Amino acid sequence: TDASARLDPHAVVADIDRRIFGGFVEHLGRHIYDGIFEPGHPSADADGFRTDVVALVQELGVSTIRYPGGNFVSGYRWEDGIGPVDQRPRRLDLAWHSTETNEVGLHEFQQWLDLVGSDLMLAVNLGTRGTQEALDVLEYANSDATTAWTDRRAANGHPEPFAVKMWCLGNEMDGPWQIGHKNADDYGKLASQTAKAMRMLDPGVELVVCGSSGRSMPTFGSWERTVLEHSFDDVDFISCHSYYQELGGDAQEFLASGVDMAKFIESVVAIADSVAASRKSDKRIMISFDEWNVWYLHREDGGQNNAPEEEGWPVAPRLLEDQYHALDAVVFGDLLITLLQHADRVRSASLAQLVNVIAPIMTEPGGPAWRQTTFFPFSITSRLAGDRAVRVPVDAGTFTSEKLGEVATVNAVATLDDEGASLFVVNRSTTDATELRVDLAPLTAGLGRDLALVESHLLHEDDWYAANTLEEPERVGVRALEGAVVDGSTLVLPLPAVSWAAVRLA
Ligand code: AHR
Repeated sequence: TDASARLDPHAVVADIDRRIFGGFVEHLGRHIYDGIFEPGHPSADADGFRTDVVALVQELGVSTIRYPGGNFVSGYRWEDGIGPVDQRPRRLDLAWHSTETNEVGLHEFQQWLDLVGSDLMLAVNLGTRGTQEALDVLEYANSDATTAWTDRRAANGHPEPFAVKMWCLGNEMDGPWQIGHKNADDYGKLASQTAKAMRMLDPGVELVVCGSSGRSMPTFGSWERTVLEHSFDDVDFISCHSYYQELGGDAQEFLASGVDMAKFIESVVAIADSVAASRKSDKRIMISFDEWNVWYLHREDGGQNNAPEEEGWPVAPRLLEDQYHALDAVVFGDLLITLLQHADRVRSASLAQLVNVIAPIMTEPGGPAWRQTTFFPFSITSRLAGDRAVRVPVDAGTFTSEKLGEVATVNAVATLDDEGASLFVVNRSTTDATELRVDLAPLTAGLGRDLALVESHLLHEDDWYAANTLEEPERVGVRALEGAVVDGSTLVLPLPAVSWAAVRLA
């Protein structure tokens, strides 16, 4: 079947905030220990960081990285992670039923970020702790005054402030599983009071208030409204979290996940703007989509895949080590397209997570590190995305999703910059290949020159369930999109069923 689209440079959504290509590192399973930090690994540097993993994170192209949780942060004492390593306490991590050794804390994580070249985004604990401890960590991290906390920072080897810009006011406080879970009123008041105090200390911070842990939460909607009624004046962002998976072997339904994400974003924008309207305010609360991914959380038997299998309180157990296949990567690519389509309001996003834990990068202790299938859409989108996101409506028909109704079969977004354009596209059909013809005339007319196809990438496997494993780490990758051409002012893209593709025009 055929599909057509138009690349109109005037259909600009917004300038893209690079923070949309953020990541998330939690003290969870083998993310930190045996993931990014493994003294004794052949590739480890003098500080114990795996340089093979550093190289892969750089290639992935992540901007800001949210840390240290996640559910973990709601029971975390950040001071446990500073000072001489041999004096740091071992603690129980209730969220993941593990033992936290605290060998890595704020200083070590910042050191790792310096290697990787990404910025820190910190979450404070509003589960077991409150405003005072949030102020303590902010003063320790950001203040340039001479105080007891900044003296300690200097004594611990970092006289200069860490200058952390983005701060999350807790994590998933709407979730009954969260330590210190609160109702919307109680959380909204605490978030507002904490945010006000944090700004008194450092007016330059950007603050993220917790939205819902998912669109399917029973409190979704009323949570956002109530929390924002308390904190509207005090925060810059509200968070969205969402994970997708194939359920009941229904690949077609799974391929509609991008539409669910779009509805989530648009609903939260509507609620935030209605709170603004009641206050007669022009302020626009932005979205920090600070957890998103494919995650096989729900088992077919109704249980959840998030508890350690080992007995007791293990250190760095194998947890949430999902293996991603080609179909997952196609859906994942579509989620990135969806974020870009909403670049006017999604000004920050964090892929959850980065290494070993629902991650694009896997490692074995003492062994190799490799790219999962989802690595490719992220690294390519992050590298090719230009300055501005542009809408690309596609005429390609629809399919019916049980949960979401009529869903477009092909979804696309473009980005523009001074040198040219990039196009990202997904064919969500499980049955039909499509030849997508994109009219470039409005763009080339504006530029006064033709554009040439300089790069193309296709992620597609006839066996959708093919994955990269320790035994076969390069089974799935991307290849040039065969048959992709610019024919006059038309870009022609032959897209197999269940495929994700990206092209660069310059
Ligand atoms: O990313 C895994 C977990 O998912 C995080 O700890 C939590 O915030 C979310 O429920």
